[in-house]
Amino acid sequence: MALAQKPLVELGRVAQHGEARPAVQAEGFGFIGQLATENLTPAGKLAGYTDGEIFRALRHGVDQKGHALGMMGALPYRQLSDDDLQSLVAYLRSLPPAATTGPTGDRINFVGLAMVGAGMLPSEPPVDGVVTAPPRGQTAEYGRYVATFGECRGCHGPDMTGTPASALGPAIPDPRPLVSTLSQAQFIEMMRSGVRPGDDPFPATMPWQNAAAMDDHDLAALYTYMTAPVE
Ligand code: HEC
Repeated sequence: MALAQKPLVELGRVAQHGEARPAVQAEGFGFIGQLATENLTPAGKLAGYTDGEIFRALRHGVDQKGHALGMMGALPYRQLSDDDLQSLVAYLRSLPPAATTGPTGDRINFVGLAMVGAGMLPSEPPVDGVVTAPPRGQTAEYGRYVATFGECRGCHGPDMTGTPASALGPAIPDPRPLVSTLSQAQFIEMMRSGVRPGDDPFPATMPWQNAAAMDDHDLAALYTYMTAPVE
């Protein structure tokens, strides 16, 4: 898997659009303050970052000065391998520079800060040392890794068993029961088309386009993971 060719994580997607958009619109974090997703093209905030500093931002969720980067600390991207983070840095550097058009920087208000202090916003445990990806294969282990870079675990929870309603938004369902009723081919077809069995399209809150851009191998591994027993 080379993330450079698969800009599937939020960072890649925002950067690809070449614009900063207020995530508050897309993600509904309004009442904890405004969370702006940065312009990550070479003309944006990362112009002053070294490659190592971008790597550190992805791995540890901190900015150049070591300050926590809002939501980045709550998302599982720090589990991406060193190789894939390096590919992601190279990808960001390769983007055509685009002017910043929206607000930048997290503006978490008092309620948000109080929630961070009270531990109400989730935070991923720190990761030390070299991180390697599981071998690319039709295994649940590799499929779990696909669900990490494909963003699935960021929304559906660390084990893909759904997340209850919280300060961050409404409940997100456990997708495993539905997936377990499908064949691998039906699952791949659903993720490519964005339409569930029974002609039931995913709503806009479910970004199936991430998965639609994956190749058959990675989708099959994702299926293996989602139909394997939860550890
Ligand atoms: C931004 C949050 C978000 C991300 C990222 C996300 N999902 Fe979802 N997903 C949702 C929501 C919300 C629903 C419920 C949609 C609805 O109301 O029917 C959903 C529904 C589903 C369903 C249908 C469940 C059912 O019983 O109908 C499947 C399958 C699914 N997601 C798989 C995935 C996979 C695989 C990924 C990663 C490629 C993924 N999701 C990434 C938010 C997300």
